Amino acid sequence: MVVTQFNSPHSLIVGGGARKRLADQILKRGKSRVLVVTDAHMVASGKIQEIEVLLREAGIKTSIFSKVQPDPTVENVEQGIAAYRDSQSELIVGIGGGSPMDAAKAISILTTNPLPLAQYMGYHKIPKAGCPLILIPTTAGTGSEATKVSVITDPVRNVKMMLLDEHLQAEVAIVDYELSVSMPKTLTAHVGVDTFSHGLEAYVSRKANRLSDPIALSCLQLCSKYLIAAYEDGNNMEAREGMMMAALQGGMAFSNSSVCLIHGMSRPLGAHFHLTHGLSNAVLLPEVAKFSLEAAESRYAEIARTLGIVPIHTADSIAASALLPWLEHLNRRCEIPRMRELIKDQRVYESKLHEMAQAAIESGSPDNNPRVPTCEQIIDIYRSIW
Ligand SMILES: NC(=O)c1ccc[n+]([C@@H]2O[C@H](COP(=O)([O-])OP(=O)(O)OC[C@H]3O[C@@H](n4cnc5c(N)ncnc54)[C@H](O)[C@@H]3O)[C@@H](O)[C@H]2O)c1
Ligand SMILES: [Fe+2]
Repeated sequence: MVVTQFNSPHSLIVGGGARKRLADQILKRGKSRVLVVTDAHMVASGKIQEIEVLLREAGIKTSIFSKVQPDPTVENVEQGIAAYRDSQSELIVGIGGGSPMDAAKAISILTTNPLPLAQYMGYHKIPKAGCPLILIPTTAGTGSEATKVSVITDPVRNVKMMLLDEHLQAEVAIVDYELSVSMPKTLTAHVGVDTFSHGLEAYVSRKANRLSDPIALSCLQLCSKYLIAAYEDGNNMEAREGMMMAALQGGMAFSNSSVCLIHGMSRPLGAHFHLTHGLSNAVLLPEVAKFSLEAAESRYAEIARTLGIVPIHTADSIAASALLPWLEHLNRRCEIPRMRELIKDQRVYESKLHEMAQAAIESGSPDNNPRVPTCEQIIDIYRSIW
């Protein structure tokens, strides 16, 4: 018998205006001093001020730590821990895209576990639960609000460290699509393709299971309906809501299945060439699917049917092969560039391929892929996306 463990936040509070429930959730836990972990843009945009006012009116002492940078670093996390201690906080609220939420998770576990953070890299290595954590996403998105994963960059070693442990799971996720409406077009596309790749990888993963499968397919269905719509018209509220739900479901699905080769290869791309997470996944999506398809034809076929690319009775081989041009079409509609447009010097790119392939393998994610690649095959895929 295969035993499956499914983790998610204790409470998911979802819908337009859900952010106004934050104070209740903090008070319900008997806490009155909180650290809000976020980034400078979130403060400048006024979103944090609104939250601060809501908390202050509820009598909650609120400190703000806004030094999280995109792709948060070990240093950001260590500064966050100092802010938590200085403010004598009892609970952490992470608000923003994946970067502030991942930093908030890492800070939370370091309130009870000793430094350095690097010792917890990998799977199930965090001994103690951290302080209570509430997450509020503003991109749609990483789904980090629902995952037991945190990704923190070590700039000295050029490594994006992946930590996976149930102690990284938030107690509460408050998912309010109104916070995502301000996303500009490019960000909407990049984080949206990240969401799509979460649904896809969760479904084709060797760790896919009967709990994650329906959530992964629902994520993909929402993406097929709303990703381009949200990209083309940021004020389309139905599309914004749909993509926020897709992101949440994508996070729940891959956190309880896994990501695979796309994410394994995208982390080194991000670490070496400073591409955003969503963009580095997007450039890899069609080529990795092409490489992997033969090993899980029926799964890719089911995705094609779910996306509505082919009628539901279409045979697996036809449905699966129809998926590849559709993925290329998705990238074109979202104006995802080729690598050669992102990194000007091909020699520099070539010089990093072996190191990036090694890092991809060491992350463990390619082992979850339906077709497990060799180092040489990973290098070939990196070459094919140039
Ligand atoms: N923990 C997980 O499960 C998980 C999953 C996928 C990705 N990640 C990580 O998440 C990070 C990427 O997160 P992201 O893609 O959400 O981007 P991000 O958090 O890095 O944000 C990117 C930029 O968008 C801005 N932004 C955020 N919300 C906005 C809004 N509503 N309107 C306008 N601007 C807004 C931010 O201020 C920032 O400048 C990466 O470090 C990646 O590795 C984590
Ligand atoms: Fe991702």
